[in-house]
Amino acid sequence: MKKITVNTSTKYDVLVGKGLLEQCGELISTVVRSRKCAVVTDDIVDKLYGEETTSALEKSGFSVAKFVVPNGETSKSHEQLIKIYNFLSENDITRSDFIIVLGGGVVGDLTGFCAASYLRGIDYVQIPTTLLAQVDSSVGGKTAVNIDAGKNLVGAFKQPVMVIADTDVLSTLSDEIFADGMGEVVKYGMIRSKSLFQKLCSENAHNILEDIITECISIKRDVVEADEHDTGERMILNFGHTFGHAIEKYLGYGQISHGKAVSIGMYMITNAAEKQGLVQAGTTQELKKCLEINSLPYTLDISAQDIYSLSIEDKKRTSDTIRIILCTDVGECEIKTLKLDEYRKFLENV
Ligand code: GLY
Repeated sequence: MKKITVNTSTKYDVLVGKGLLEQCGELISTVVRSRKCAVVTDDIVDKLYGEETTSALEKSGFSVAKFVVPNGETSKSHEQLIKIYNFLSENDITRSDFIIVLGGGVVGDLTGFCAASYLRGIDYVQIPTTLLAQVDSSVGGKTAVNIDAGKNLVGAFKQPVMVIADTDVLSTLSDEIFADGMGEVVKYGMIRSKSLFQKLCSENAHNILEDIITECISIKRDVVEADEHDTGERMILNFGHTFGHAIEKYLGYGQISHGKAVSIGMYMITNAAEKQGLVQAGTTQELKKCLEINSLPYTLDISAQDIYSLSIEDKKRTSDTIRIILCTDVGECEIKTLKLDEYRKFLENV
C-alpha cells in the first residue's frame, strides 16, 4: 500500500493499493472517533461493492446506514442532495458522525457537497471506485452539484478525512470507463511528468496501476497544496478542459465521456499552439501517439466558432479574458491569459 499525505486546510492520507476495501473499517477507524456513519453510493456500485463495504465497516464496530442514488450525472442535483440530507437526519447522523462516499465522480461530488453543507459540515471519507475518481475527483476537496445553468455551479471546498483507492475495484470497470480515466492520467503526464507520460506510451496501464495512480495523486497533491482554492496554479489541472467542456456541451452532456472530451481538448489546444510556435515542435505528435495507445480519441469535427462561443460561456471566466493551459513540452505547462479577441485569433489554428 502507498500513502500520500495531503497537507491542505486539513491534513489527510490518500491510500492506494490492492485489497483496501475489505480493510476499510480498520483504516477509517484510525481517523474518526464516531462509530456511526452513512454510506452513499450508486445503484451499480452498490451491487458490486455495497455489501463488502458494509460488512468491513461492521466488522470494525461501525453502525452503517446506506443511501443509494441512481448511477449517472443526473444524480448530481439538488433533488438528490435534499434526499440525502433527509436520510442523514432520519438516521440520526450528527455532527460527530461521518459519511462515506463509495463510487465515482458523480457520487463523490454530490456527497462531498452534502458533507460540506449538512449541519454546516461533517467529516467524510472518499472510497473512489473509478480510475477518474481515484486520480482526480476524490482528492483535493472540490465538491458540487449541477444546476440548470451549468455543471458544478453550486459547490464548496471540503477536504475528506481519508481517501481509500483500492485498485482491485477497477477490474470491474468497462474498457470505456477505464479509458475515460486514462484521459486524466495522460493529462497529469502532460502537465508535470515526462517519465509518467513515457510509461503511458510504453506499458500497459493495467499492469502498473498502483504506480500510475500514486504518481497522479502525488502531482495533484503538490498542485492542491500550493493552491487549494483554485485561484492560480490549480488551474493547470484544467489542461484540455477548456475545449473539453466546450466539446461536452457541443455534443450534449452524456454523449461523450468527460475523459474523452478532455483527450480531444488536450490534442486540439496543443495542435493549435504548436502551429503558432508556442509549443516545442513534435509535442502534438507525441500526445497523439500516447492517446492512441490508450484507446483515447483526439479529433472531432467542431468549428473554431463553436469552441469559442461554448468555451466563453464558462461562468468562472473573468469578464473580458480567458485563461488557457498550454503544455509547452511534455511534462511542462503554463497558464496563459488571453483577451477574448486574442483567444479568437488563437482558435484560427484549431
Ligand atoms: N479536477 C480539477 C481540480 O481538482 O482542480
